Amino acid sequence: LPAWCVFFNINKKNETRYLCAMTEPHPIHYGPAGAQARRIFENGAYSRVFILCDTHTHRHCVPQFLSDAGWDTQPQVLAVPAGEQYKKLATCEQIWSAFLTAGLDRQALVINLGGGVIGDMGGFCAATYKRGVDFIQAPTTLLAMTDAAVGGKVGIDFQDIKNAIGVFRMPVAVLIDTRFLNTLPFRELRSGFAEVLKHARIGDPALWAQLQGISDLRQAPWDDLLPRSLAVKERVVAEDPLEKGLRAVLNYGHTVGHALESYFLHSPQPLTHGEAVYAGMLIEEMLAGRAPLVWPYWGPLPILPAGVEAELWALMQQDKKNTSGKVMYTVPDVAPFSMLKYTLELPALEQALERFRTYVSASQS
Ligand SMILES: NC(=O)c1ccc[n+]([C@@H]2O[C@H](COP(=O)([O-])OP(=O)(O)OC[C@H]3O[C@@H](n4cnc5c(N)ncnc54)[C@H](O)[C@@H]3O)[C@@H](O)[C@H]2O)c1
Ligand SMILES: [Zn+2]
Repeated sequence: LPAWCVFFNINKKNETRYLCAMTEPHPIHYGPAGAQARRIFENGAYSRVFILCDTHTHRHCVPQFLSDAGWDTQPQVLAVPAGEQYKKLATCEQIWSAFLTAGLDRQALVINLGGGVIGDMGGFCAATYKRGVDFIQAPTTLLAMTDAAVGGKVGIDFQDIKNAIGVFRMPVAVLIDTRFLNTLPFRELRSGFAEVLKHARIGDPALWAQLQGISDLRQAPWDDLLPRSLAVKERVVAEDPLEKGLRAVLNYGHTVGHALESYFLHSPQPLTHGEAVYAGMLIEEMLAGRAPLVWPYWGPLPILPAGVEAELWALMQQDKKNTSGKVMYTVPDVAPFSMLKYTLELPALEQALERFRTYVSASQS
C-alpha cells in the first residue's frame, strides 16, 4: 500500500478496507474558531498560516477570528470578492498567485474563513497547490456549517456548470463558531436552514420534531442543533466517502433544486441554494407520491412560469450526478438513514410541478 493510505473501518461490519488520505475523516470542533485554529497550527508544526476570506467575512469575521487566535505575527489574509459568480478559475488564479507571493510551502496551513463559496474554492486551491497543502474549514454561514464545510468535496464552477471542476480532499479540521451567524443576512440564514431540515429528515426524527417548534430562526439554539444536524451528514459521509451509494441521500431535494437554482439564476429574482432545495424537497416528495411536508417559518416559494418543465428537464439531464442519461432522485425512506432512489421521467415531473403550483397558490391565499 502507498504510504498515504490509512486503514479505516468503512462499513461498520468489521470489513476493513483502506482508503487514501483524501477520505480520512476530519475532526469537527465547536467554539471559538480562532483559538482552535491556533492550537492546530501549533500542534501541527506548520510553517505559516494563510487566511482566505471574501469581502464580507473580511469585515464581519476576520477581526474576531484573529483576536481569538492571538498570533504574534499577523498571518497573510486574502479577501476575494463575495458571491457564487466568483467561484471560478480566474479567482483561483488570484488565490494561487497570493500563495506564491506569500511564499507558502507544503507545510503551510490554509484557513478558509467564509461561506460555502470560500470553503469550496479555498479547499480546491489548497488541495491543488504544490500537490496539496493542509486546510481548515472555518465556515461562517449556516449552510457551510451544516453542509458545505463537511465531507471533503471542494471545487469551482466552470462554463456555467456548478462544481464542474473539483476533487475530494478532507480538511484537517472543521471549526464551527456559531457567533459568526449573528451578522449573517436573514435570507442566508434561512437558506442554510433548508439543509438542516434535510439532515433531520434523512436521519434524525427527534431533531425534525424540534425544528417544527422554532419560532424565530434568529433565536434558534444553533449550538444544540448544529452538532445533531452534522452528525447525520458525518455518518453518511463516513459510510460512503466517495459517493458510491448512501451519500446519494444527501442529494435529497437537489435533483429538482439544482435545476430550479440554475433556471432562476439569470432571472430578476434568483433563488438562494436553500430556497431552491426547499422547493426541490417538496417537489421530490410529490414525485414520490407523498403528501408535501410542510415546515413552518419558511419564506416565499418560487412561482413557476408556464412551460418551465422542458427547461428544468434539460437542466436535470446536464447534471453531473446523473449517469447514463437517466435523471435520478432520492428521497429518504421511513427508517432513518435509508433511501428510495427513483428514475425521473418527464411526464411525472410535469404532474408534480402542476401539483406544486396548486400547493403554492393555496399556501399564498
Ligand atoms: N462542498 C460541499 O459539499 C457543498 C455542499 C453544499 C453547498 N456547497 C457550496 O456552497 C456554496 C454556497 O455556500 P453559502 O450559502 O455559504 O454561500 P456564500 O459563501 O456565497 O455566502 C453567502 C453570503 O454570505 C456572506 N457571508 C458569509 N458569512 C457571513 C457572515 N458571518 N456575516 C455576514 N455575511 C456573511 C458571503 O460573503 C456571501 O455574500 C455553493 O457554491 C455550493 O455549491 C458545497
Ligand atoms: Zn445543498
